[in-house]
Amino acid sequence: MQLIVTEDYREMSQKAAQIVADQIRNKPDAVIGFATGSTPLGLYAELIGMYDRGELDFSRITTFNLDEYVGLSREHPQSYYRFMWENLFSKINVQNERIHFPPGIFTDAEAVCSRYEEEIAEAGGIDLQILGIGTNGHIGFNEPDETYTLATHVVELAEETIEANARFFHDKAEVPRRAITMGVKSIMNARSILLLANGKSKAEAVSHICTGVVDPKVPASILQLHPHVTLLVDREAARLIEMKGEAAWSHSR
Ligand code: F6R
Repeated sequence: MQLIVTEDYREMSQKAAQIVADQIRNKPDAVIGFATGSTPLGLYAELIGMYDRGELDFSRITTFNLDEYVGLSREHPQSYYRFMWENLFSKINVQNERIHFPPGIFTDAEAVCSRYEEEIAEAGGIDLQILGIGTNGHIGFNEPDETYTLATHVVELAEETIEANARFFHDKAEVPRRAITMGVKSIMNARSILLLANGKSKAEAVSHICTGVVDPKVPASILQLHPHVTLLVDREAARLIEMKGEAAWSHSR
């Protein structure tokens, strides 16, 4: 695992954009896993800037998003599809038919979950998965639990997640209670992973990824078992990290 601590959010976003751009330049038809939420917004703004300046071509990439709220259509203002469309996809030259999301509206949960995994496999697997992290350590919407759920699945959102995400809605009562999310196996199958975190509220969760202990109660701790993870965090999110355990660290500033 490589840990990169940046001075602030801006530097984190710029370095993240560099990593994504390198991936796309090395493999123009790369499969990129995207995350929603506030954390990657700076990264997405940087990528849009690179596209506008003619520095990066997204025309051959394939995308898979981590998750979607159950019950929200693609057109819903708070859907993750709409979020990605407004904050990135409509502003770069990604091809519409290469954009993939787990559906928010469905009748047969099992069928749509296994179809999503098939689609990832048919695309050749994910080259680079971008992740944020919840204050409770969730990745995608894999919430703290007694065991890990490996496959794409429908999940009841934790109260902490509903509260954290209420800021995107008029009212907390409007936040969907369930989501459909890639499971831990789909995430761990990505060839490389870039986890971004900024701000004090993420410090505790981030510190758990660095302890050497894998615990489904802090879902992101499983990333320690992945051979190519970059943990790109700002100074505030890094403040509780203690270098311990047997993880092999390369630490840069
Ligand atoms: C979003 C996602 C979530 C977020 C996490 C952090 O697609 O999968 O795991 O990355 O909830 O959200 P922010 O960035 O809003 O703090």
